Amino acid sequence: MQTIALHMPPPRNAGEPMIRRAYVGDVEQMAGLINNYASQGLMLPKSLAQLYNNVRDFIVVDVDGAIVGCAALKITWRDLAEIVSLAVAPSWQGRGLGKQLCLPLIKDAQVLGIPTVFALTYQVDFFKKLGFEIVEKNILSQKVWQDCQFCSKQDCCDEVAMILRLEP
Ligand SMILES: CC(C)(COP(=O)(O)OP(=O)(O)OC[C@H]1O[C@@H](n2cnc3c(N)ncnc32)[C@H](O)[C@@H]1OP(=O)(O)O)[C@@H](O)C(=O)NCCC(=O)NCCS
Repeated sequence: MQTIALHMPPPRNAGEPMIRRAYVGDVEQMAGLINNYASQGLMLPKSLAQLYNNVRDFIVVDVDGAIVGCAALKITWRDLAEIVSLAVAPSWQGRGLGKQLCLPLIKDAQVLGIPTVFALTYQVDFFKKLGFEIVEKNILSQKVWQDCQFCSKQDCCDEVAMILRLEP
């Protein structure tokens, strides 16, 4: 039987972080990363099923097979997309990896013709550095709030809504 090589990651130096799209084999580590922060109330939890269903939307930071960062772009509607599940492992923070995860997602939104990217976050200064500005939550479409049913803070949400407007 003929076998087909599905992917061949590029060569890199040991210990060097690599940003790449997520594979199904990454999902359990992604869940660990996300749900650790979710248990601290910093982001929404994700089940393994949710992550497998949406794995094609994710990019990860891979260090010698260890997943130390992840994020995804979730398209909300024709004019709006959200950066979701953005997480960098504590020992890898402050090295530009969060920014390196967000920039390709923002580029992706631009290529798709989506004019606005948003985040619901406590990391206001991080997103400000990427050019996001704070907005009133009520300016965002109702479509944004469909995930809130999974959040323990749905009736007392104190996350900050931030948007980035993209050039066409
Ligand atoms: C938010 C998070 C992804 C940032 O990742 P990171 O890899 O540490 O961020 P970077 O190193 O890419 O930082 C990019 C810039 O933002 C700044 N920055 C990052 N976090 C910051 C913070 N909490 N407050 C102020 N500035 C911050 C950095 O100093 C850096 O500035 P520079 O470009 O002038 O050097 C990471 O802190 C994290 O995983 N937090 C826990 C989960 C979470 O809250 N996720 C967000 C859900 S919306």
